[in-house]
Amino acid sequence: MGNADSDTCLAPVDVVVVGSGIAGLFLAVRCARSGMKVAVVTKKGVSTSSTNWAQGGIAGVLDVDDIEAIEAHVLDTIESGAGLCDEVVVRSVIREAAMRIKDLVEHGVRFDRKEDGGFHMAREGGHSGARILHSRDRTGQEIERALTKVASSESDAEFRILEDWMAVDLIQKSHGKPGDGVCGIWCLNTEGEVWTLPAKVVVLATGGSGMMHKATTNPSIATGDGVAMAHRAGAEIKDMEFIQFHPTSLSVSRQKPFLISEAMRGHGAVLMTIDEYAEWGSSSSSNPGEISFMRGYSELGSLGTRDVVARAIDRELKKSGDPHVLLVTEHLDREGLRQSFPTICSKLEEYGIDLGSDPIPVTPAAHYMVGGISVDSMGRAIIDGTPMPGLFAIGEVACTGLHGANRLASNSLLEAVVFSERAAERIIDEWGGGSLRDVSDNLPKWRADDLDTLVEHAPLRTDLEALRTTMTQDVGIVKSNSRLDRAERRLEHIDKEVSRTWKRCKPTQDLVELRNLVIVSKMVVSASKKREFNVGLHYNLDLS
Ligand code: SIN
Repeated sequence: MGNADSDTCLAPVDVVVVGSGIAGLFLAVRCARSGMKVAVVTKKGVSTSSTNWAQGGIAGVLDVDDIEAIEAHVLDTIESGAGLCDEVVVRSVIREAAMRIKDLVEHGVRFDRKEDGGFHMAREGGHSGARILHSRDRTGQEIERALTKVASSESDAEFRILEDWMAVDLIQKSHGKPGDGVCGIWCLNTEGEVWTLPAKVVVLATGGSGMMHKATTNPSIATGDGVAMAHRAGAEIKDMEFIQFHPTSLSVSRQKPFLISEAMRGHGAVLMTIDEYAEWGSSSSSNPGEISFMRGYSELGSLGTRDVVARAIDRELKKSGDPHVLLVTEHLDREGLRQSFPTICSKLEEYGIDLGSDPIPVTPAAHYMVGGISVDSMGRAIIDGTPMPGLFAIGEVACTGLHGANRLASNSLLEAVVFSERAAERIIDEWGGGSLRDVSDNLPKWRADDLDTLVEHAPLRTDLEALRTTMTQDVGIVKSNSRLDRAERRLEHIDKEVSRTWKRCKPTQDLVELRNLVIVSKMVVSASKKREFNVGLHYNLDLS
């Protein structure tokens, strides 16, 4: 499944899927099984995706007749979304959960089971009950393992997985208007060559944009590529002010943040400040929840929704000047914890932290892009209020209306698989009915064919660093008008530098990613400036 040879890999396909996480692979397999010619383009290896890093799981009610349980999931989603969810989308996605989870199981995904054979359900922040299927604390890895295996077994001349190829831009017809739609992608190989890949349908499944921030739980591929490409092609982008910070990433000096799953708080772990932990040590209380600062912020205590918990931690850290808060687990059954969270346990051991005995230092980190490419109920990208011919978006890159102003934990894998199925069904129907447009022979040429100036890497790294510093300092959990103005000025400056380089130099993956990050960061700032009230993940001091 390595790189295909460039003569064949760039032959026209029916569908090109950009991205190889749960959304992309699920759709690709479905389309390939219907007989379509499919290419999956992924800028690193096939399993280098945000899905692979997901610890928690997939939320869903398995008994389709349990109306009460389904309604509770609907209400928790709407409550977490702070009134901005599309209720029709919420209800339809949650009703579809059981079928899509069954599909995953049929694809070979092994979710944890109880002794009686039923699925073990975990609980996470904002959920009023336990309804999250998981595979220990490495659910994403398990889903990615199963889907990659299915995809490899499908792989043949009609279904290619192109690793180390990066989509650079969507191709629109020569002299066409944006509403005419897309007919393929330009993609960059490791030799620095840009090739044309004609396709009747392009599906963007590129994930999020966590790399905008210095501290993120995302892999380094999360550079907002899909949103930036769709924006350049004229598609509608929505709700970019809602960047979700995960409350608990491991905070160990100079190390990349590592996610400490919310399922651990679902299991009973409690957040405390350093002072509260000392106080608890000298008190007679066996329950750290009685002392935790989270009592003052949410009725659910440490299990409040992510917007509330991340903001509470941010406030406590600003008050105390401490570098982190603590996630306390020593009141819980040590063996049970270690069995449920083996990945986290061994990561903590690397830093000499003993799960179940030692408190875990945690801080919030950028985690999920709630906004994205505006899509309809079939995952079709929207332009000027109507579907854009030939362009779909699924997974984190899409904004479906499910999450509103704040995504409920573990609803994202569910959204990804539901919209992948719907998009696949729509594409297969159109293909079967012969209504997919033919890919024109007369595609425009990539503009940079003849550029031969090489990018200088040092200034590129400086610009990337400046962008991440700006977003971290000025466009984080708590924003203000003056910080947003400053971020806008700084990003404008970086944009000019990067655009100059882009016009002069041969593209490289780093340059394409930085160009995308600049666009997406500017969108986050501009959407934040437009939002006139504080809601969910958007919190501006000057509006409160
Ligand atoms: C987690 O395990 O806490 C992350 C799950 C999610 O982001 O939905």
